[in-house]
Amino acid sequence: MPDKITALLLGDVFGTPGVRALFTRLASLRKDHKADIVIVNGENASEGLGITEEIAEQLFSLGVDVITSGNHIWHRREIVKLLDSDRPIIRPANYPPGTPGKGLVVVNVKSTPVAVINLQGRQDMRSIDCPFRTGKEIARKLQAQTKVILTDFHAESVGEKESLAFHLDGQISALIGTHTHIQTADEKIMPQGCAYITDMGMCGPDDSVIGSSKEISVQRSLSQMPLKMEVSDTSAVIQGVKVVIDVKTGKATKIERISERSLV
Ligand SMILES: [Fe+2]
Repeated sequence: MPDKITALLLGDVFGTPGVRALFTRLASLRKDHKADIVIVNGENASEGLGITEEIAEQLFSLGVDVITSGNHIWHRREIVKLLDSDRPIIRPANYPPGTPGKGLVVVNVKSTPVAVINLQGRQDMRSIDCPFRTGKEIARKLQAQTKVILTDFHAESVGEKESLAFHLDGQISALIGTHTHIQTADEKIMPQGCAYITDMGMCGPDDSVIGSSKEISVQRSLSQMPLKMEVSDTSAVIQGVKVVIDVKTGKATKIERISERSLV
């Protein structure tokens, strides 16, 4: 069993620019950061909304170990088949019972089981089941299997994100926020060893409004009409975090922000 696991988590992959950036940079990022596991949020990979099986398999072939998601995962209905398969692609665990797919996956990394949980917030989002109770219960059950537990919390509210990290601190190794696509500068390790950041950002077009066309975004605000969003076709940012976890204790020893511009 290794002493530590280094996890590379990358923010929401947004459209073709995001996938393209990972295509060119993921292998070297993995090597540069000596990552043992790579986790990306893929809920915006298909034209900004949802993900297809083809794109998911492309991400796996680039070296992604686990794909997490969020509220937009349902946009491309054909992904349900993959969500229901044993491929390591997950949706938030706190959707009601009977929802397709799974909210947790355990993968083997250097002979160590590493659990990845996906949860979704409820403030300014759909009122699905409670992420606090669901997260606590999953983390409790996982203790017998592994202490290395990473959580993608897909949520809008900063307060809800910090609260959940505090609630699960001591039971999980990291709670990493996604959904807003804007990387925050508040990475920290909580008192009982849970690495935390409010939002790790995105892998998507840098000249954009959270990934989408700036012009259409402005027009939407000016006109108040539900204009169809388009992915901004520019070069991309690649954003996320690197987290180092002590395998014996499951506590994080380091969290470091990653933010770079891709050349394509
Ligand atoms: Fe997203």
